[in-house]
Amino acid sequence: MLNLTPDELLATTRSVRKRLDLTRPVEREVLEECLRLAQQAPTASFAQNWHFVVVTDADRRAALGELWSSVAGPYLQQRSAAAAADPRVARIGDAVRHLAAHIHEVPVHVVPCVEGRTDGKPAAAQASRWASIIPAAWSFMLAARERGLGTVWTTFHLRHERRAAEILGVPYDEVMQVALIPVAYTIGTDFKRGARGPLDTLVHWDQW
Ligand SMILES: Cc1cc2nc3c(=O)[nH]c(=O)nc-3n(C[C@H](O)[C@H](O)[C@H](O)COP(=O)(O)O)c2cc1C
Repeated sequence: MLNLTPDELLATTRSVRKRLDLTRPVEREVLEECLRLAQQAPTASFAQNWHFVVVTDADRRAALGELWSSVAGPYLQQRSAAAAADPRVARIGDAVRHLAAHIHEVPVHVVPCVEGRTDGKPAAAQASRWASIIPAAWSFMLAARERGLGTVWTTFHLRHERRAAEILGVPYDEVMQVALIPVAYTIGTDFKRGARGPLDTLVHWDQW
């Protein structure tokens, strides 16, 4: 345990791609502790209609990694002009490129899922379904950080969600995948606060 204060934990849980230790296994018990904490998150109804697929099998990670990288490549290409113009975009691009090259080596991929597809449903139905899993997934990531693990929320593989469902045995017609979260111990445990704009650019008191 890193014994971070709650505020430190919230401020320094970063997207980790380059500082994932690809050589150190992650213990099942540690993942289970994080998942038990994730279970405490709220859902839209009392039933916890979500699941986490924890992928440690090397062949399945390689297959998911291939899907992930096949989307990362065109994403990087599309953003190459923006990356040349803006070092912040270039930094994320470098990190995505690194992860694309190594994603199959990341010891654990966690795929949060939620029961019930919302394809084509109204925004209100979408909102409550997605928000029934996202707080739990973020709790998992916070609990992981406290235990020295790094994570990054990613969605690239969802472009090939049906294929990923086949790889993982997820019943695609009944269950939506929400993300693919690579998980590994971090190289060093010191992470800084993210650069964020002033509050008044996004907070609206009483009216927009
Ligand atoms: C909804 C969502 C989808 C994302 N999808 C990806 C992705 O597919 N691949 C990836 O490398 N990062 C992905 N990210 C991470 C972002 O690119 C970005 O690096 C991150 O939000 C900024 O990290 P920071 O908070 O540590 O500054 C995603 C983040 C979010 C919230």
